[in-house]
Amino acid sequence: MKPNVYITRKLPLPVVEKIKEVCEVRMWDEEDIPVPKEVLEKEIENVDGLYCLLTESIDKELLSKANNLKVISNMAVGYNNIDVDAASGKGILVTNTPGVLTETTADLTFALMMAAGRRLVEASDYLKAGKWKTWSPMMLTGQDMYGATLGIIGLGRIGESVAKRAKGFDMDVLYYNRSRKKEAEEELGIHYRDLETLLKESDFVCVLTPYTPETENLIGKEQLALMKSSAVLVNTARGGIVNEGDLYHALKSGEIFAAGLDVFKEEPISLDHPLLTLPNVVVLPHIGSASKKTRMNMANLAADNLLQGVERKTPKHLVNKHVIEEGLSY
Ligand code: NAP
Ligand code: GLV
Repeated sequence: MKPNVYITRKLPLPVVEKIKEVCEVRMWDEEDIPVPKEVLEKEIENVDGLYCLLTESIDKELLSKANNLKVISNMAVGYNNIDVDAASGKGILVTNTPGVLTETTADLTFALMMAAGRRLVEASDYLKAGKWKTWSPMMLTGQDMYGATLGIIGLGRIGESVAKRAKGFDMDVLYYNRSRKKEAEEELGIHYRDLETLLKESDFVCVLTPYTPETENLIGKEQLALMKSSAVLVNTARGGIVNEGDLYHALKSGEIFAAGLDVFKEEPISLDHPLLTLPNVVVLPHIGSASKKTRMNMANLAADNLLQGVERKTPKHLVNKHVIEEGLSY
């Protein structure tokens, strides 16, 4: 008998076909609407595998309804939407999609630095609104990236790729991490700073840590107050890492120059959110990894992880390795 799996969003057909070769598949058949909680609660009861997105909250309560679940495959590198401890407690494997989205997300991070620093969206809106009457010396002037100091908070896969791009712009790159990365320091010519010093010295700051209880509100009022009034903050990690209320006040009061945000505490962000009223914030609907090639790679990698999990092989990208090492798997 084939294992049963549930897929929480309509996926590209070739990916579904690949999963169907091995599994009985049920799938939420909408592209733009997340599966309702009550549907997922019912579907999870008897499946062996769950293929989900970062839009689904896979919490303890939901997992308590799963009777056969062996693997949760998240089509994302971040897995803060999943209660990994609760899954591990039930012997359920949790997988993610690291690596395949690194360069695409680093590109987008760089694009946001440029867009916010050089006021690209504001300038485009200015033109479209018919406000462009003449060239003038200080019209829509922003901040230079070339030769500036970049501070990367969270020098992981994406952080390192952003650092590589920054070298092409002759930027001085600083980073803050829980652990020092001596090899990357030597290879990339970058420098470690504690968080406070990084914030004080940087012209551009990129947030690239995972979202954990430790990183929640890592950047708030106190941290923003340390930044230069000419500084640009970019968050392509997760919304909850930067306190949005504090960021609004820092941007509104001119404490920092601009921000570029791909992620928000609540997604989609409410249209009456105060941040959306500011001209000096560039906002994107969580599209860090959204190139056609990368999204297909993520979808396929998540399918591979799922299939390995239901076939009781060790998935390539296993988050809770100890479940297998300690023989706890379902
Ligand atoms: P990664 O390789 O695991 O890198 C994360 C880095 O953050 C590591 O170097 C880690 O180093 C550091 N870190 C963890 N906790 C920290 C803390 N408390 N303080 C300071 N540094 C900390 O992950 P990645 O692949 O680069 O992805 C990073 C995050 O980006 C993901 O978790 C995801 O949320 C987000 N993301 C967003 C998009 C998007 O579409 N916008 C796309 C991909 C990823 P130490 O553990 O040594 O401190
Ligand atoms: C996207 O945000 C991811 O974590 O892959």
